[in-house]
Amino acid sequence: MNDSSAALSNLMHEERRFEPPAELADAANVTEEAYERADADPEGFWAEQAERLDWGQKWERVLDWDDPPFAKWFVGGTLNAAVNCVDRHVDAGHGDRVAIHWVGEPEDDTRDLTYAQLRDEVCRAANALTELGVRKGDRVAIYMPMLPETAIAMLACARLGAPHTVVFGGFSADALASRVVDCGASVVITADGGYRRGAPSALKPAVDEAVAKAADQGQQVETVLVVRRTGQDVDWNEDRDVWWHEAVDQQDSGHEAELHDAEHPLYVMYTSGTTGKPKGILHTTGGYLVGTSWTHWAVFDLKPETDVYWCTADVGWVTGHSYLVYGPLANGATQVMYEGTPDSPHKGRWWEIVEKYGVTIFYTAPTAIRTFMKWGDDVPAKFDLSSIRVLGSVGEPINPEAYIWYRETIGAGKVPVVDTWWQTETGQIMISPLPGVTHGKPGSAMKALPGVAADVVDDHGESVPNGSGGYLVLQRPWPAMLRTLWGDDERFKETYWSRYADKGFYFAGDGAKKDEDGDIWLLGRVDDVMNVSGHRLSTTEIESALVSHAKVAEAAVVGAADDTTGQAVCAFVILRESATDDEGAAPDDLIKELRDHVAKEIGAIAKPRQIMIVPELPKTRSGKIMRRLLKDVAEHREVGDVTTLADSTVMDLIKKKEDAGSSDED
Ligand code: WT7
Repeated sequence: MNDSSAALSNLMHEERRFEPPAELADAANVTEEAYERADADPEGFWAEQAERLDWGQKWERVLDWDDPPFAKWFVGGTLNAAVNCVDRHVDAGHGDRVAIHWVGEPEDDTRDLTYAQLRDEVCRAANALTELGVRKGDRVAIYMPMLPETAIAMLACARLGAPHTVVFGGFSADALASRVVDCGASVVITADGGYRRGAPSALKPAVDEAVAKAADQGQQVETVLVVRRTGQDVDWNEDRDVWWHEAVDQQDSGHEAELHDAEHPLYVMYTSGTTGKPKGILHTTGGYLVGTSWTHWAVFDLKPETDVYWCTADVGWVTGHSYLVYGPLANGATQVMYEGTPDSPHKGRWWEIVEKYGVTIFYTAPTAIRTFMKWGDDVPAKFDLSSIRVLGSVGEPINPEAYIWYRETIGAGKVPVVDTWWQTETGQIMISPLPGVTHGKPGSAMKALPGVAADVVDDHGESVPNGSGGYLVLQRPWPAMLRTLWGDDERFKETYWSRYADKGFYFAGDGAKKDEDGDIWLLGRVDDVMNVSGHRLSTTEIESALVSHAKVAEAAVVGAADDTTGQAVCAFVILRESATDDEGAAPDDLIKELRDHVAKEIGAIAKPRQIMIVPELPKTRSGKIMRRLLKDVAEHREVGDVTTLADSTVMDLIKKKEDAGSSDED
C-alpha cells in the first residue's frame, strides 16, 4: 500500500468540511432521497435511470446475476449507442446545440460541431466503414490524437456494432501491435500525426510498424484509415491505406442504425494488471450507457441547456470513453475537447480555454492540479474562471493540499470539488460526493453513489469499523461493470472475484479506510500496479520491457512517491556480464539507452524516472523479489525488515550503490 501510514495519520486530522452551495443544492439534479430509494431497490433504481435512454425493444429483466460473476443488464433490451449519443438529440430539436467545441493545439485552430453536424459525420463514417468491409462484431483499433474524428470514429463503430479498442496515442508500436493481436482487429483508424508541445508528432509510422508486427503474429490488418491532421509526410501502402477525407467526406449523411442487444460488446479497453500482459476490459452497450450517462448527469449536476463541460482526459483512457464520449454525449452536453498539452504555447492555455468558452464544469486529474500548483497562482489569476460551478478530480487520491488549492484558486473558494473514484473496470464513477447533496472533505471520495454498494473490508471480507483501514470492495453488480476480460474468462474470475468469492464481492485492488463518519479515503493500490499521473502501469510489464534489452539480466521495478506524478517508475537493474567492462562498470549512456528502450516497448509514460544498476536484487528464499525494500531505497527511507531475505547482505550492496550515486534522474 503506498504511503498508507503517512496518509492515515494525515487524514485523521482532516477537519475541514465544505457544504454544497445553496443555489446548486436548490436546483440539484439528484437529491438526498435517491440514496435510500436506490438502496431499497437497486434494480428498480437502475431501471429508472435506463428510461433516460432511447430503447428499441424494452428489456425483460433488469439484471441477470444467475451465473456470477458474469452479469447481464437490461436483458432482452435493444438500443444503439450512437443514436442515443447523437441522433436523438437532433430529433428532440437540439440539432443546433454545440456538441463539441474542439480546440487544436496551434492557436486559433478551432472547430465547433453541433449535434446535427456530429450526426452527419458519424453517419458518413459509418457508411465509409461499411464500404471498407467493417461488419457488426468486427474489431476496430483506434490510435488517434484528440480530434473530433476520434469521437466520430468511436461512435461510427458503436453505430455498426463493431467494438472499438482505442489505444492511447502515446503508446508505442509494440503496445499497439499487442492490442491489435489480442482483440483481433482487422482495421486501424489513425492520423498522420497530432500537435504536441507546439510541434507535429507523428503517429502513422508507429501504425506501419505495429501492423507489420501484428502480421508476424498472425493478425492481418486489412485497412488503415488515416485522418490528415498535420500534413506531414507519410509512407503509403496503396493496398491497405485509405485517407479519411477520401473515404468519408463523399459518403451520404443518411445511415439507418441497427438496434443492438443491450449486451452487445461496445468496446475493449486495455489496462495494466499485475502480470506483464495487459487486460482487455470488455464493456457492453446498454448497462454501460445507463451507468455512464446517469453518473455524468448526477455527479456533475449537468444542465445540458446551459452547461459547458470539459474533461481534460485523453480519449485513449477510460475517462475519455465514459466522460468525454459516451456519458456527456448521451446527455446532450456541450463540451470542450482539447488536442494538446496544458503548457502550449503558454502555461495558462487551459484557463484561457475555460475563459473563452465559459466552461462551467471542469474535470481533471490530481497530477495536473499539482503541476499547476507548481507553476504558481498567478497563471490562472490572469483569466476569468468565474463560469466554473463544479470541479471534478479523478485518477488517484487527491491530496488535501491539492484539493484546497483547486477549490480556492480555480473554484474561487466556493466551487465544490467532487473526488470521483472508479476504474477502467467499473466503467462508471462509483464513489463520489454529489455536489448539490453531500458535503465534501479534502482528500476523501466520500461514499458510494446511489445504486452502488462499496465497503472497506478485512482479509476475511468483514466490514471494518469506522476509523480503520482495509480493502475496497464492491458488494453488488452495477450497470457499467466490465463483463469479462476479452478472451479470458478465467483471468476475469481470478483477478476480481476470487479473493472474496464466498461473499461475492468485487475486489478493486485498492487499499482504503473509513473515517469516523464512515466516509471512504482511498490509499492507493495494494498489488503490483503503479499509478503514474493517474495512469495505471504494471511493474511486471516494465520489468519485462527492461529484461528484453540485450544488456539486462534481471530487473525489478517499483513505484516511488513523486510530488507531481503521484508515483514514479524506479527500476533496479542487474546487467549481463557482457554489458560491463572489466571492473563491472556500465557504459555511460546505458541508462539513457534503457530508458529509451522502455519508451519504445511500452510508451514514454512508462519511462523510468530513475534506473539503478545493482549487483543483486533482494529476494526471499522462494525467489520472490521484495519490492517493499526497493521502495524504501527509491523513497530514500531507512530500509525495513530484511530478515526474510535469502541473503541479508544484498541490501547493503544496493544501499552502497545508491550512496555512490549510480542512478540517473531527469
Ligand atoms: C485506479 C484505476 C478511473 C479513471 C482513471 C484511472 C485509482 C482512480 C481515484 C480517486 C483515489 C483513484 C485507483 C483505481 N483511482 N480514481 N478518485 N481516488 N484513487 O483508471 O487506470 O483504471 O485506474 O486509479 O487506484 O483502482 P484506471
